[in-house]
Amino acid sequence: MDAASVVVCTSYDIIVGRGLLPDIPSDLLTYVPAPMYAVVTDETVDSLYGARITEAFREALHPTDSKMIKFAIPPGEESKTRETKEQIEDWMLGNGCDRSTCIVAVGGGVVGDLAGFVAATFMRGIRFVHVPTTMLAMVDSSIGGKTGVDTPAGKNLVGAFHRPQRVYTDLSFLHTLPEREFCNGMAEVIKAGAIYNAELFEFLERNHSKVRGLDPEAITYVVRTSIAVKVAVVLQDEKEKGLRAILNFGHSIGHGMEALLAPSWLHGECVAVGMVAEAEVSRAAGKLAPDTLNRLISCLQAYMLPISLPRDCDAHAVVRRMAADKKNQGGVKRMVYLRHIGNAGTGAEDVEDHMLLRILSPGLTVVPHGRVHGSLMVPGSKSLSNRVLLMAALGRGKCRISNLLHSEDTKVMISSLQTLGISVSHDRETHTLVVEGCDGKPSAVDKKQLFLSNAGTATRFLTTACVLPSGGSTIISGDARMHERPIRDLVDALCDNGCDITYLDEEGCPPLRIAGTGLRGGDITLAASVSSQYVSSILISAPYAQSPVRVRLQGDIVSQPYIDMTVSLMRQFGVEVARPAPNVLEIPNTGYTNPQDFTIEGDASSASYPLAMAAITNGSVTVHGVGKNSLQGDARFCDVLEKMGCSVTQTADSTRVELPHGTRLRAVDVDMGNITDTFMTAAVLMATTPVGSVSRITNIANQRVKECNRIHAMATELGRLGVKCVELDDGLEIHGAGRDLPHVLHDGCVDIHCYNDHRIAMSFGVLGCLWKNIHITDKACTAKTYPTFWDDVVRLLGNEMAVAPGVHARMRVRGSFHHGIKEASSLVLIGMRGAGKTTLGRAAAAYLGYDFIDLDDLFEEKHGPIPAFIEERGWDEFRQQEQAALEEALEQHAYNTVVSCGGGVVETPACRELLAGSRLPIAWIDRHIDDIVAYLEADTTRPGYTSPVVAVYQQRRPHYEALSTHWFPIARGNSDIAHTTACFSRFCGVVVAKHVAPLRDDSCFLSLTFGDLSTIKDLSSLVADVDMVELRVDLLDQPTDAAFIAGQIALLRASTAKPILFTVRSAKQGGKLALDEDGYFNLLSLGARLGCDALDVETCWDSSHIESVCAPLRGTTIVMSQHFGRPCTHVDEVLTLVQGSNLPFVDVIKIVFTATEVSDCFLLQQARERVHAEKVVTKPMILLLMGEQGRLSRVTNTMLTPVTHANMPGTAAPGQLTWEQVLRLRRTLGLLRPRSFFIVGSPVALSPSPLMHRTGFRLAGLPWTYERLDTTSMVDVRSVFASEGFMGASVTMPFKQSVLPLLAWMDEHARRIGAVNTVVRGGAGNTQLLGFNTDWVGIVKPLQSAMPAETRERTGNVLVLGAGGTARAACYALHYLGFTSVYVVNRTPERAEALCRDFGVRAIDSAEALDDVVLIISTLPPTAAATVPATLLQSKPVVFDVTYIPRMTPLLEQAHAAGCRIFGGIDMLIAQGIEQQRLFTRRHVDDAVIDTTVRQGYRKMLEADPHVIDDNPSEELTFLV
Ligand SMILES: NC(=O)c1ccc[n+]([C@@H]2O[C@H](COP(=O)([O-])OP(=O)(O)OC[C@H]3O[C@@H](n4cnc5c(N)ncnc54)[C@H](O)[C@@H]3O)[C@@H](O)[C@H]2O)c1
Ligand SMILES: [Zn+2]
Repeated sequence: MDAASVVVCTSYDIIVGRGLLPDIPSDLLTYVPAPMYAVVTDETVDSLYGARITEAFREALHPTDSKMIKFAIPPGEESKTRETKEQIEDWMLGNGCDRSTCIVAVGGGVVGDLAGFVAATFMRGIRFVHVPTTMLAMVDSSIGGKTGVDTPAGKNLVGAFHRPQRVYTDLSFLHTLPEREFCNGMAEVIKAGAIYNAELFEFLERNHSKVRGLDPEAITYVVRTSIAVKVAVVLQDEKEKGLRAILNFGHSIGHGMEALLAPSWLHGECVAVGMVAEAEVSRAAGKLAPDTLNRLISCLQAYMLPISLPRDCDAHAVVRRMAADKKNQGGVKRMVYLRHIGNAGTGAEDVEDHMLLRILSPGLTVVPHGRVHGSLMVPGSKSLSNRVLLMAALGRGKCRISNLLHSEDTKVMISSLQTLGISVSHDRETHTLVVEGCDGKPSAVDKKQLFLSNAGTATRFLTTACVLPSGGSTIISGDARMHERPIRDLVDALCDNGCDITYLDEEGCPPLRIAGTGLRGGDITLAASVSSQYVSSILISAPYAQSPVRVRLQGDIVSQPYIDMTVSLMRQFGVEVARPAPNVLEIPNTGYTNPQDFTIEGDASSASYPLAMAAITNGSVTVHGVGKNSLQGDARFCDVLEKMGCSVTQTADSTRVELPHGTRLRAVDVDMGNITDTFMTAAVLMATTPVGSVSRITNIANQRVKECNRIHAMATELGRLGVKCVELDDGLEIHGAGRDLPHVLHDGCVDIHCYNDHRIAMSFGVLGCLWKNIHITDKACTAKTYPTFWDDVVRLLGNEMAVAPGVHARMRVRGSFHHGIKEASSLVLIGMRGAGKTTLGRAAAAYLGYDFIDLDDLFEEKHGPIPAFIEERGWDEFRQQEQAALEEALEQHAYNTVVSCGGGVVETPACRELLAGSRLPIAWIDRHIDDIVAYLEADTTRPGYTSPVVAVYQQRRPHYEALSTHWFPIARGNSDIAHTTACFSRFCGVVVAKHVAPLRDDSCFLSLTFGDLSTIKDLSSLVADVDMVELRVDLLDQPTDAAFIAGQIALLRASTAKPILFTVRSAKQGGKLALDEDGYFNLLSLGARLGCDALDVETCWDSSHIESVCAPLRGTTIVMSQHFGRPCTHVDEVLTLVQGSNLPFVDVIKIVFTATEVSDCFLLQQARERVHAEKVVTKPMILLLMGEQGRLSRVTNTMLTPVTHANMPGTAAPGQLTWEQVLRLRRTLGLLRPRSFFIVGSPVALSPSPLMHRTGFRLAGLPWTYERLDTTSMVDVRSVFASEGFMGASVTMPFKQSVLPLLAWMDEHARRIGAVNTVVRGGAGNTQLLGFNTDWVGIVKPLQSAMPAETRERTGNVLVLGAGGTARAACYALHYLGFTSVYVVNRTPERAEALCRDFGVRAIDSAEALDDVVLIISTLPPTAAATVPATLLQSKPVVFDVTYIPRMTPLLEQAHAAGCRIFGGIDMLIAQGIEQQRLFTRRHVDDAVIDTTVRQGYRKMLEADPHVIDDNPSEELTFLV
């Protein structure tokens, strides 16, 4: 083994090298000789390397001496089970393996752990060697000797320590490893560096592109060093007592996450987030050096690893999962505290839950603690930090900078400077940053991108600096918000001076391409009325212009102090700026001389928050590092405090603020033009001045173009708390609300949106010191300027930080169970008694996979029947007990439960407060009052209302309305319970975001254009063939009346189960309704509240307002739409629009132009292709052209094409086509792609499904194929599902349950039945497998025709024979049909018990004793030849046997003879197949033709030799065209 380097690891060697594979067998013969090598690998590795492995062994082994056998398991964690272990063992035993055999594990951690465990127990332990093929396996799992398998109870719970003989770490394997898997392993490498080896960590920081590019030298170093770290740590602590625990860094929290997020999140990804969170815990405990966290974060990001919990992952759930960690001692959670890079102490330490929650939750609530007293240092000023960094970078010589702010902004600046070729390094000893100046010569390399995220100062400052290089060009870009921030004035000024800067997107905003032209110098004229940063930008780079610069400022100069700050800093770097007139600045071109050391003063804006905390709580706070001599304008914030009544004492470098006991803050009128950054701090103070007083902040107009429109944002967020604010053009008027707790905060937390603006978060943190229940939704945004803000609030100011329970309750959880969230918030139901809370709630719970609790039931369990209780103890006592029950339920069932409340809970203020404070979604079931009255009058089991029902309703209604977050109206007279149940279940799915159906390609929605749906007769047939229905709210007769709109939604739900798209098309987007901002958002929120499946959101409205409505929605599909009354001008225009709409909460992007020529369609199509090819976005798009000339675009659009219907009075948009027209055109134009479908299972040779589906395809004119795949191997199924063109399959035995792990989503029926019979591809780009079950329809449809609804609802017993998968579908169908007495007979009682549990049926040993039987369903296989006791047939039940060969089973013969109505398997097959055909094609399906064709074929098959059945539909079938 030459070229290989060996890491010695006590008893065995780890050989690290490249290209080792061919030599492994001969090396084995020398070091681990064996007569038999049993290679264990997985299918992926086998397909890549299997042949080479075989070849290598063939060459090395003498056939007579040694043998090699090979076994491949399916890839992935699902294979790491006892079952797979058994399979491997059986295979080995079957191949004559014995004690002398050596197992060779070739694969990742799964193969290694599994094969190692087999080796540990096979014949009491045999030898094994490991050939790791993933990064994770190389650096982690192959070292240390741990082996094992997963069990349903948890990962790695069963296993053994068993060391390999040898490990061959062949780095060449990494070349085929997917990048995500590579980075997954890198998390462990970064961990190794962070806890033990600072040099490794620094290497990773500096060389991330080399490492990710698998540069041979870099990767060798990285793998070897990581192995060495693990070996060293393990060797020092083999028994896992102390030091070895440090390997667990990031894993305590990481494992908690993994329990919730696997398999969609990989181990390393969870560990990455875990490391960040655990490091934050150490920082909060004061143990972590401040800059360390930033380094850790940057390093993880450089390897594409996540750094925060996904928003949909609940912190409480993670913490609860952590408790299950076996490494915890005595229930206390333990964690590794990182000290600094390379040092994680010597073991784990205790950590409290509330600390973990605080760190992990995205939001927090400050708990007021009386007066705030304390003193602290605040982090360095952001403005100074970035200026100093850039000056030092441009200057001559080395500069050591201390008290630099470690924040997003400076991080972005530092990495940009590094990209520009400037050396910036950390000095760990002194916590300083060392910058080596380039003396005015940054390097621009073509195509270099500076990605500046949303860092404003860095972007502005660097824009001028990037002109300095000679030659080349630099691109400056940022996130979406950055691309909205103006920069035109600066660019204009520079271009006038001979620079070459181009806008790459929107005129006037980044991204920019900046050519390295140098700065000419001389006169530069600049508008100074928007941002002083433009002025500073030019000033900072001016010393390197070719000739001295004279800057002339035009307009009113904003933020003068910032300009002064720049000027005085430049002086400290040796450049004296002259100012002959207030608007003229003269800069010599002498360049900077760097001071050796520079200490940055504390940030004055940051200081404003602790100072304001003193003011707002009548306390006292001293801030060091900011005082009289401060360069920062914002240091004058204390003048405002003084004006408001505080006493302020300043020294040269400290500021103390006190509001003496007994005094109150008073309202003031202030011009904050010079201290703009602190206006928000002032605003929250002003909100607490006495009622009746009014404060005014003026001259801050530029705050509208900061991180967000801060003036609007403050007005909105203070407004949420009931503080009246009036927006002024250049400021804000704030009406004092007094110090007492505002009313809205009495009832529980109010969410404050932070708009990703640190200052909003911190300002409301100040207010939180006085008022409880202010929930700041995004605590992390303070990282921008004050990363340790919350730590300081807790540590130094003695405040307590609380995380409100279930804070996630209203946060968005996208996707479905595949998304991996196994725990989600509960859902509370309120509404009148008799509204259906119990019936609907129970069904919804089953649909969501939730528990169901009924508070009335809980009550009765404790106190006996309610009527008796009330009679005995009175209503008051009842309400009190009810409240206690509610409190308990909300506390104990905050997750995964549907909680149905008694109708009267809303009558007690205490209960209302509990509900509001619970932060859970609350759905109001609003059945029409007339229907409730009718229902209650018929029911005598419950106590009567003390007042008439209608009056009670009127009294409660406002409470229902106010308390509910969602509203489910039921149309008057709607009594179809099964249908309403299905609609309600889906509604709940949208509310809690479980199981939201992925969109499918080739889909459409019908735009309804009616003014009032109650006038429409046959709504259900109009929507029969579409995927979604759009309610155009603006076209309704009463488009702004919430009750009317809710009524329309109820009507729509009553007539169809299709998803609803709620669209308010405003006049400015071509709709019918002229709306102002409030009007629009009221309607939009109504759509969300009504739980509509999809919501159309017009891009043209205020983006922060849109975000505040949409971001909290969970299952609602957001369609972001834009309409233009003109054609698109250029492909790039579309690309930019698409990108601009691609916000995190957006699911579908819709862009509509208006065509004037047909060629406009071609341009749009080109744009679509570009978006796909370049993966500009991967979300579904709707790209359309209105107008007659644009029709073609409706044919080429593939996802959610809006359509009309021939029976509708008008179209919603000019040029709209019917779905039928669209399909016909697609066919005619050859736009239908070939697709293949299969039936998978065994036996399938005699299945009529091919005939049925081919007939369907032919009828619809589709060029699609449908083939049989007779197999029992999952490998075959997987490979067919993954094959090119595969679109769907009928799934039969034995796969109905075993395909479930492959699915990304299942429909509600399949989920309840626990099996699928239909798989189709869907999701954006058809990348997901979706599962459905139509078997139950096959039973429901024939029975519906045979048994009218009345007979079903009456008593009468049903008998089900068998308890397998089909029996489950049958029980589900029976439940759906409303049968209540269902009995199951089965030979294996356990299976029948499962049915009882899941469907409320009863298991019996024998049917003998059953009388009054109305229906018998046999699901037994034909081989069982079942019959029933003759007595059962006396009541002439309907008899259904699901067997289709033979046609007449013994049971059917028997029933037929007894004169019963009978159904056979073919009836079921056809009915379920037609439903399946709908799922395959999503086109109109002609039931009758399919029925006839299949029956003919079936008859022919039975008559003829059953083995030569004819699958092909006869040629006579006419095309739809
Ligand atoms: N024993 C230990 O001390 C220890 C330590 C850490 C992790 N683990 C275990 O390791 C497992 C995870 O290991 P993993 O991340 O290697 O997962 P893995 O074994 O599932 O491999 C990940 C994926 O990459 C594929 N793959 C492997 N090598 C490839 C190659 N060269 N080219 C292309 N594809 C390749 C695999 O088929 C698989 O799909 C977990 O079960 C975990 O519990 C064990
Ligand atoms: Zn790990």
